[in-house]
Amino acid sequence: MNYPNPKLIFKDIPSGKVGWRSPSNIALVKYWGKKGTQIPANASISFTLSESLTETTVEFSPAFENNFNLEFLFEGKSNEIFAAKTSGFFYRIMDIFPFINQLDFKISSKNTFPHSAGIASSASGMSAIALALCEIAKRYFNAFSSEDEFFKNASFVARLGSGSACRSIYGGLVSWGEITGYKNTSNLFANSLSDNVDPVFETFHDSILIVDSEQKKVSSSIGHGLMNSNPFSKGRFEQAGANILRLLDVLKSGELIDFVDIVESEALSLHAMMMTSTPYFFLIKTNTISIIEKIWDFRKETGVPVCFTLDAGPNVHILYPHENKDEIVEFINSELLKYTNNNTVIHDKVGNGPVKI
Ligand code: PMV
Repeated sequence: MNYPNPKLIFKDIPSGKVGWRSPSNIALVKYWGKKGTQIPANASISFTLSESLTETTVEFSPAFENNFNLEFLFEGKSNEIFAAKTSGFFYRIMDIFPFINQLDFKISSKNTFPHSAGIASSASGMSAIALALCEIAKRYFNAFSSEDEFFKNASFVARLGSGSACRSIYGGLVSWGEITGYKNTSNLFANSLSDNVDPVFETFHDSILIVDSEQKKVSSSIGHGLMNSNPFSKGRFEQAGANILRLLDVLKSGELIDFVDIVESEALSLHAMMMTSTPYFFLIKTNTISIIEKIWDFRKETGVPVCFTLDAGPNVHILYPHENKDEIVEFINSELLKYTNNNTVIHDKVGNGPVKI
């Protein structure tokens, strides 16, 4: 499918305001490496979180000249970095939403997770902005024929802001990228998997242990780019392709031993790619490894199907079924908090997706 351009024609748009609250997501099979215009080198699967959210309001008014101005307030303060990032995003999607140039924007954004937690907020942040723009297109240009079309377009647009953001448009389990044999999948937008998932995954938990809250030293876009010259990239993309098919089976069967195996292998492969890139780098810390070893010991001793995954950073996401919640929280408090930055843990879980505000 090509992008279903709503063919927005110029007309006067009055001043107004739209707002969306959008979640972060955690990948189970990782997207690392891309080609062309944000086309993923392999398909990925994530679940959308419920507590780690970005709330964004976009106020707009007619621009004086045919050239937009943009002001970005993050947590109440003017933020030049986010303003530049968002302006770049707006230029990239100008052919989709030509009305952008007709307007001036004041964007106010805040996260529900602590600012100092070092959690990547590009997925929640970019998806919230994409939804807000689609809301303007819907309100003034009647752009989408159905709710389905609205979200598909929002996912397409969010992908151009940050790849993983396209998955945050849907709640529950979500895939992004073409998967052989699955006809609704696309490299251009994400796809909800929720109809085909064992109930155990509908209430899965993700307790995020904040090991280090520093800004990461190597950005995701540089990391993706380094996959072009990584000698192991071909094998990695094949591994991800195989893991996607295995995970899709596991999501249907609810087989947690295989789930643990796929998810942990994916996290370690992601970081192995960083260590084998040129230039090489790593983002994990000593405490990341200490936590992983403790999880392995705990799982061996108790048989509880708890596992970890990692994003592009040192923080550890601990994934576990709802029925094991009490014992895992107790384990985190007694054995793992000492490895975190100021005892910071965010107890999150699978969420329902974005909400209009
Ligand atoms: O969306 P980006 O470009 O920030 O890349 C995200 C990459 C990972 O978070 C490491 C993996 C993923 O699939 O979310």
